[in-house]
Amino acid sequence: MALADKDRIFTNLYGFHDWKLAGARKRGVWSGTKKIVELGRETLLQRVKDAELRGRGGAGFPAGMKWGFMPREGDGRPQYLVVNADESEPGTCKDREIMRNDPHRLLEGCLVSGFAMGANAAYIYIRGEFWLEAEHLQHAIDEAYEAGLIGPDACKSGWPFDIYLHRGAGAYICGEETALLESLEGKKGMPRMKPPFPAQAGLWGCPTTVNNVETIAVVPEIMRRGVDWWRGHGRPKNTGTKLFCISGNVNNPCNVEESLSIPLKELIERHAGGVRGGWDNLQAVIPGGSSVPMIPKSVCDDVLMDFDSLSEARSGLGTAAVIVMDKSVDLLAAIKRIALFYKHESCGQCTPCREGTGWMYRVLGRMLDGEAGVSEIQHLWDVTKEVEGHTICALGDAAAWPVQGLLRHFHPELERRVVSASRERSRPGIRAAAE
Ligand SMILES: Cc1cc2nc3c(=O)[nH]c(=O)nc-3n(C[C@H](O)[C@H](O)[C@H](O)COP(=O)(O)O)c2cc1C
Ligand code: SF4
Repeated sequence: MALADKDRIFTNLYGFHDWKLAGARKRGVWSGTKKIVELGRETLLQRVKDAELRGRGGAGFPAGMKWGFMPREGDGRPQYLVVNADESEPGTCKDREIMRNDPHRLLEGCLVSGFAMGANAAYIYIRGEFWLEAEHLQHAIDEAYEAGLIGPDACKSGWPFDIYLHRGAGAYICGEETALLESLEGKKGMPRMKPPFPAQAGLWGCPTTVNNVETIAVVPEIMRRGVDWWRGHGRPKNTGTKLFCISGNVNNPCNVEESLSIPLKELIERHAGGVRGGWDNLQAVIPGGSSVPMIPKSVCDDVLMDFDSLSEARSGLGTAAVIVMDKSVDLLAAIKRIALFYKHESCGQCTPCREGTGWMYRVLGRMLDGEAGVSEIQHLWDVTKEVEGHTICALGDAAAWPVQGLLRHFHPELERRVVSASRERSRPGIRAAAE
């Protein structure tokens, strides 16, 4: 059953209504916020834990557990909430819709979540290319100050709370939380080694929690409608509603809010008008943004769109950006293009990532051009394993996993292609004629 309209959180996802304060209030944003804050920090934290809210930025880390790492008794240092609005994962276009069409929902989320983690300030780090979104957000921040919703006595709750908007310069790596913090401090956006984790020493050395836009934006609704309502969607440990971005070879590419754990097939057929040419024309799907491994049609037939189901299928929910590829797609060419992206975005600090991303891209190119030997398929797999888990940040994994997905599920096709190309090469007469 599709998510009922009454259960949607993002009721202005498509921008049909007024995004400013008056419009947001009509949709229920900023309603009863003072009462929510008055529930107290421990109650809010416990409710987020009970709701089993998992981060919407890619890794699916439990939000309540992360907030719980923040010091309860302050040690004199300020505590910060940092909202990750860098959204650069290919295929992903959900956070920008929240910021453009429903910015107050994010701001209210900042106050409620910031209070629950003991922060008096939130920094929203927004991707540089999101010009209109930054304008809308800044306008909404100004409105919220003007109306006393944030500021020295936010919503008359007695809690002082400031929100600052910071524009990045448009680098994928600045979405990684420690690189983001470096960039926010005015330095080059390069990931830091962990530990220390941001909750111990984050922004300017102070306790900090970094969360995705969508994670923060849903929190006030969980408090208003209740933990049971949230848990009524999805399944245990995979609870709530979720924004999905469906692109590629579907009849109607779209963003849609649905219950977590909806079957992938139902998601595509109900909301995206089905696969171009019908379900049987499906070849593979990348279910969570370019960094997760693809799954072939046989897995797509009954996989559920949630964290645990996709991880059992050796892929991931990631950012829930569903990239659909029908039988017309040359999967090798698609993965080579993705490999170029990661090669370009690697910050270069770690040797396995700096060298491995280029290595993977070049071997995929040799295969595509018919110049690779069969042994290079195994070499390619070995390189992905040398990169995976051997780097400072997860960009290395993100570069290795798409290649692994291709090799895991389409090895025989790839081998046939490489063998037939090498046979062609060993027939000089034919080659000379072709040239
Ligand atoms: C290379 C790289 C890029 C990332 N980009 C983003 C991003 O654009 N937005 C985001 O929310 N998280 C991004 N992340 C994940 C963040 O590091 C962090 O886990 C996330 O913001 C935590 O939020 P959540 O717990 O609410 O999911 C990225 C991670 C890596 C390794
Ligand atoms: S894994 Fe890549 S992007 Fe991440 S720190 Fe190392 S070199 Fe930089």
